[in-house]
Amino acid sequence: MITQVLVLNGPNLGRLGVREPEVYGSASFDDLAELCRSTGRKLGLSVDVRQTDDESELISWVHEAADARLPMVLNPAAFTHYSYALRDALAMRTAPLVEVHLTNPARRESFRHTSVVASVADGTVAGFGLVSYQLALQAIAELAAEHTAEHTAEPVPVSPAAP
Ligand code: DQA
Repeated sequence: MITQVLVLNGPNLGRLGVREPEVYGSASFDDLAELCRSTGRKLGLSVDVRQTDDESELISWVHEAADARLPMVLNPAAFTHYSYALRDALAMRTAPLVEVHLTNPARRESFRHTSVVASVADGTVAGFGLVSYQLALQAIAELAAEHTAEHTAEPVPVSPAAP
């Protein structure tokens, strides 16, 4: 069975390649999207990659994922550090969630040391550039398999009561 996954990206990530390449690398957003799709194919995942600079649009995609029980890989970008609205939307999730970052925010400016999203995610992968997304998709493949097994498990037969 193919699992559908949303890979959601927040503000300024559409500018990858031209955005501070010394920090974020030279790969473009299209390169990132293609890598996610090809990694997904190897893992049996159908990956839909999206990016927006708009908090409201990002939240509407999170609602869509909750309604359709879709797992998510999410790079919330700067929203990571202050968007309680995004955090509250993610708290309604109905499938696995992995937070992802290209850089390691813990090694950067102090305002990046807080993630308001981390506590509602299954886990976080940060600091490995595009490889962060590949690792996050691998984690999603494992988590989604467990999640599906839990939600489709046969009921345990009840043995007849002893006389
Ligand atoms: C980022 C880290 C954030 O602090 C920053 O605002 C971003 C990108 C990353 O992928 O390293 O836009 O999420």
